[in-house]
Amino acid sequence: MTGQEDAVLAAIRSRRVVRAMSGEPVARKDLETVLDAGRWAPTAGNRHLQRFVATDDPATLRVLRMVSPGMIQRPAAAITICTDRRLAAEYGFPPGAAGLHVDVGTAMATLLLAAHAIGLGAGPVSSFSRAAVGEVLRLPQGWVPEVVVCLGHPTSGAPQPMHPQPRLTWRDLTTWVPHDDGA
Ligand SMILES: Cc1cc2nc3c(=O)[nH]c(=O)nc-3n(C[C@H](O)[C@H](O)[C@H](O)COP(=O)(O)O)c2cc1C
Repeated sequence: MTGQEDAVLAAIRSRRVVRAMSGEPVARKDLETVLDAGRWAPTAGNRHLQRFVATDDPATLRVLRMVSPGMIQRPAAAITICTDRRLAAEYGFPPGAAGLHVDVGTAMATLLLAAHAIGLGAGPVSSFSRAAVGEVLRLPQGWVPEVVVCLGHPTSGAPQPMHPQPRLTWRDLTTWVPHDDGA
């Protein structure tokens, strides 16, 4: 295994959702590094129908938190992953197309890992009022907020992880398709 592969796997394994963040601001260049990583996420048909709405404005973050019951942390910045439904329709994606949801996930995972790589804490939040978040962020017509990625500097004394349980092993999660010869 090369050193680079090792570093990537180590980052995948050590990333955890951070729900305790200090009030220290996130440097704009760090936010930009995370945002730049987002454009490298794979997307269905390479269409890139997700849009990132970034904020480090304390007043906006406060209101965002008020309309997001799942936001346990007090983030210093947030990136809301939105799907541009109007653009998706133009490309022929029906509103419920699986690819659109998968793309939100690939973007989310990429942002979380990028934040982790530069020492920021990050946590996704999907429990929020879509209508209210659309208002707070003044989203253009047709943009649907899908996941808010909270960002900040991790502090100690973090709240317990959600539903703590032993991590499933890859064997727990995997079934093999048998070979035709029964092997
Ligand atoms: C689609 C999605 C939505 C999530 N929504 C929330 C949320 O609203 N609030 C929250 O605290 N964590 C949320 N999480 C984080 C999960 O609870 C977390 O990934 C899980 O507990 C495992 O923790 P780990 O990623 O640190 O291993 C969400 C994760 C995903 C993938």
